[in-house]
Amino acid sequence: MNNPAPPEAPHLDVYEALRRRKSIRAFRSEPVAKAAIERILAAAARAPSGTNIQPWQVRVLTGAARARLVDAVLSFRLANPGVEKWNYAYYPVKWKEPYLSRRRKVGWDLYGLLGITRSDKESIAAQHNRNFTFFDAPVGLIFTIDSDLERGSWLDYGMFVQSVMLAAEAEGLGTCPQACWAAHADIVASTLSFAANEQLVCAVALGYPDQDATVNRLTTERAALDEFVTFIEV
Ligand SMILES: Cc1cc2nc3c(=O)[nH]c(=O)nc-3n(C[C@H](O)[C@H](O)[C@H](O)COP(=O)(O)O)c2cc1C
Repeated sequence: MNNPAPPEAPHLDVYEALRRRKSIRAFRSEPVAKAAIERILAAAARAPSGTNIQPWQVRVLTGAARARLVDAVLSFRLANPGVEKWNYAYYPVKWKEPYLSRRRKVGWDLYGLLGITRSDKESIAAQHNRNFTFFDAPVGLIFTIDSDLERGSWLDYGMFVQSVMLAAEAEGLGTCPQACWAAHADIVASTLSFAANEQLVCAVALGYPDQDATVNRLTTERAALDEFVTFIEV
């Protein structure tokens, strides 16, 4: 028997998708149709990769599976505050400019919006822990890579993840890319029964944005073109 033709993907101009995408940190609880998730992942898989090796593997967590991972990581964090074991270095060990200022700015803009002051360590930790509920998104995407692959494949991977987020935008969905799960990669790996050579890259929270949530009002800045572009003509 033939499968029914998938419903047509919604249309969104690529510049508009790039402009609209932003990290969403509060979601509505309504579920996301499996057909939409499949459309997003199938479209994103058109992302390029060196010699077309397609180094991505995605687990789509919903329902009890999502709750199991959230429970495992959150309960560990609450019982062991400050204990993290990253499986790879996402951030530099030593921060320098201009990265340090940019990092501080987005952090304080976020906490400022929520009325959290620098000295309120408890509220900062609680907000950070919201990462580990996928910010209440009904879908948690977990991205892994074969640990035998090299740095080039991580470059491919970024293109894939951004493609997922742009396609989600076309579906009217919000996303938040999340590296923080790598701080508990061992728990993620055991909860989701990773293969021996499988390594966590990041997660993406996926769902319908809560448009009323204050946290989603955060808009981030970007450096001006002349700070990162050099046209070389002669
Ligand atoms: C690979 C990657 C990992 C990220 N990890 C987190 C995370 O763990 N938690 C979080 O709240 N935001 C995370 N972010 C979101 C960044 O803070 C955000 O992209 C940046 O501040 C720019 O804001 P925008 O996405 O709204 O444009 C991550 C972004 C990327 C690309």
